[in-house]
Amino acid sequence: MKFFIDTANLAEIQEAVELGILDGVTTNPSLMAKEGITGQDRVLKHYVDICKLVDGPISAEVIATDFAGMVREGEALADLHPNIIVKIPMIEDGIKAIKYFSQKEIQTNCTLVFSAGQALLAAKAGATYVSPFVGRLDDISTDGLALIEQIRTIYRNYYSFDTQILAASVRHPMHIVKCAEIGADVITGPLSAIKALLQHPLTDSGLAKFLSDYQKATV
Ligand code: E4P
Repeated sequence: MKFFIDTANLAEIQEAVELGILDGVTTNPSLMAKEGITGQDRVLKHYVDICKLVDGPISAEVIATDFAGMVREGEALADLHPNIIVKIPMIEDGIKAIKYFSQKEIQTNCTLVFSAGQALLAAKAGATYVSPFVGRLDDISTDGLALIEQIRTIYRNYYSFDTQILAASVRHPMHIVKCAEIGADVITGPLSAIKALLQHPLTDSGLAKFLSDYQKATV
């Protein structure tokens, strides 16, 4: 399973790179705004800066919601760097744009997916990745992980679908572990959720005892 980080913060991305387990980055307009990255030129430059830090897929989201606008923006994003994945919302014109880009062999990430039917359409259109939002479904008392399982079953039924399931809006370590059990291809979330996988109290107490026994034996 690949690990992407869901942020536009360069320091956080660098920290994840140094951890040695990072495969890619996802961003969205809210995450760019959170970093104060505004205006088309600065946004495009920021994507290039992220590409310089990470040698893997970098999802860059279009703002347009009409087919022509998404194609125009998506082509400009794809021209920035070979690792850019054009992120397109799950709307009618978005599906048309995903189909267009798949025919041009430009990689896409279909975002804001909340149902199996939407994921089926994304795969039919030829999306490279489909992003079901696990955490946001949990937020409204709906089982986000059950959706990942349902999409995995559907995609497994049809070998011609090579769309990868990118479990997005992952919020905590158990989301990640469960996604791995289900067989999601990728997870994306904050670095804090990934780093929480490191933690176990028995690791901490075991290490403390090994070190104190070592000290005792060497005095
Ligand atoms: C996916 O690509 C989105 O950027 C993201 O995972 C949304 O996560 P959130 O629900 O924590 O905002």
